[in-house]
Amino acid sequence: MQQTLSIIKPDAVKKNVIGKIIDRFESNGLRIAAMKKLQLSHNDAEKFYAVHAERPFFKDLVEFMISGPVVVMVLEGENAVAKNRELMGATNPKEAAEGTIRRDFADSIDANAVHGSDSLENAKIEISFFFAEREIV
Ligand code: CMP
Repeated sequence: MQQTLSIIKPDAVKKNVIGKIIDRFESNGLRIAAMKKLQLSHNDAEKFYAVHAERPFFKDLVEFMISGPVVVMVLEGENAVAKNRELMGATNPKEAAEGTIRRDFADSIDANAVHGSDSLENAKIEISFFFAEREIV
């Protein structure tokens, strides 16, 4: 059993497809162990994506992530990290396979509907960024 962090990004929240995205997770064997909707501050977004601080897209990524509320979740299940990434599809929606969340709901590489932890190690760091232990049930 693994846990991973998922973020429904501002573009998907604005499109009112939170429920449709959650259904993809639940219908594919992932369970929501924690969930909240919040508005990230500039500082939150910079800290969360600190690993990308030197990348040319960092500033745009931070601006996009604070452009509206997000939904953050802990997803739990067998191979949750890999399964979530499979359900999301490629980072660039133009390259995302048919039937994936990004293919169906994303518009661009920044407005790409969802974020998911890329490893078990990062999942632990990202989960503790948003959730206290007592909130994960
Ligand atoms: P995410 O999985 O949230 O992790 C970092 C985000 O940076 C990524 O999704 C994209 O939305 C965004 N991004 C923008 N440009 C790029 C790029 N060239 N390569 C990777 N990620 C990018």
